[in-house]
Amino acid sequence: MRYGTIPRGLKERLAEVLGVVPYPMLDVLVAPVQARALIAAARASVFKALGEKAADTPELASRLGLDKSCLDLVLRLLASMGYVKRRASSWSLTRLGTKHFGPDAPNPFRDFVAFGAPQWDWISRLDDVLRTGRGVEIHRTLQGSDWNLYQRAMAEGARDFAGFVARELPVRREARLCLDVAGSHGLVGAAVCRAHPGLESVVLERADAIPEASRLAAELGISDVVSFRPCDLLEDEYGEGADVVILANILHHFSPAANRGILERAKRALRPGGSLAIFDIEAPRPQAPPEAAGDAAALFFRITSNGACFSGDDYLAWLRDTGFVKPRVVRSLLLPSRLLAVAFA
Ligand SMILES: C[S@@+](CC[C@H](N)C(=O)[O-])C[C@H]1O[C@@H](n2cnc3c(N)ncnc32)[C@H](O)[C@@H]1O
Repeated sequence: MRYGTIPRGLKERLAEVLGVVPYPMLDVLVAPVQARALIAAARASVFKALGEKAADTPELASRLGLDKSCLDLVLRLLASMGYVKRRASSWSLTRLGTKHFGPDAPNPFRDFVAFGAPQWDWISRLDDVLRTGRGVEIHRTLQGSDWNLYQRAMAEGARDFAGFVARELPVRREARLCLDVAGSHGLVGAAVCRAHPGLESVVLERADAIPEASRLAAELGISDVVSFRPCDLLEDEYGEGADVVILANILHHFSPAANRGILERAKRALRPGGSLAIFDIEAPRPQAPPEAAGDAAALFFRITSNGACFSGDDYLAWLRDTGFVKPRVVRSLLLPSRLLAVAFA
């Protein structure tokens, strides 16, 4: 993926050829203002309102209690990004806008985008992380409604990969118990359960995450196969006799030593032959060509974790060190920069 200043039309291409495009100025100004316009629109319910009914700027501003002139500028920018369009003076969602923000969006990202605001604060700490090497401990800094929004945002993200994990993870036929460690909303364990009838998933989570997580699970229609149990994954045992353990998007928060400890607990919780899935961001290989989406994701996770982004080889080495057998890594073209590591107890 590339993300950046892309000249359009003859005049802009000519400016590029002549070398007069002020790239640093545009990079520092356009991307953040675009991102913030998207976040602000989601938080002010602009997409929700346009999904219900097309409107001109004054009407929309009065419906949502917003400033008319600022809203108009936000809408224009969102139109340049392809999320809304204007016919005569009336704004409505485009196909892309409907897909992600419409009332019945098939691939919703409303909460994920709204959660961009607290993420913005974390990203602004990069200067400190760069100096100290210490990441932002997001699970300790999140509070109140942002904590709930975090879980809803993660649930939206999980729709993308839960099916992949469910398809690729081998599960024995009579399997009954899946432990979704740090599973939040429970969608990943639920997808594995749906693929293997008879299997039920227990989400092991921080106690303060459970009320919103279980409310979400009910809303997502997965409460029939998902239940919740408070657990500090760094301190507590995970239980025993499990057929499956899932560790999705959690190991990047911790150091290699802590991750070995987590894998040892997972191994003790599994019955012999039980399967383990690690789904996570993959650190770019040092010799891989730099690439915007993967490298930005890797840096984001470096800022928001106290560990680092790890490579497939790191996961495989820890799995072997902690006694798992037949460890292997599976990647999907549809999930760039992420990997699934599978192994057996
Ligand atoms: C990035 S989310 C991943 C959620 C889910 N597995 C997914 O892939 O969408 C990380 C989760 O880890 C949980 N978590 C963080 N530290 C934890 C701890 N010490 N014990 C239990 N859960 C923890 C958080 O509450 C959060 O729900």
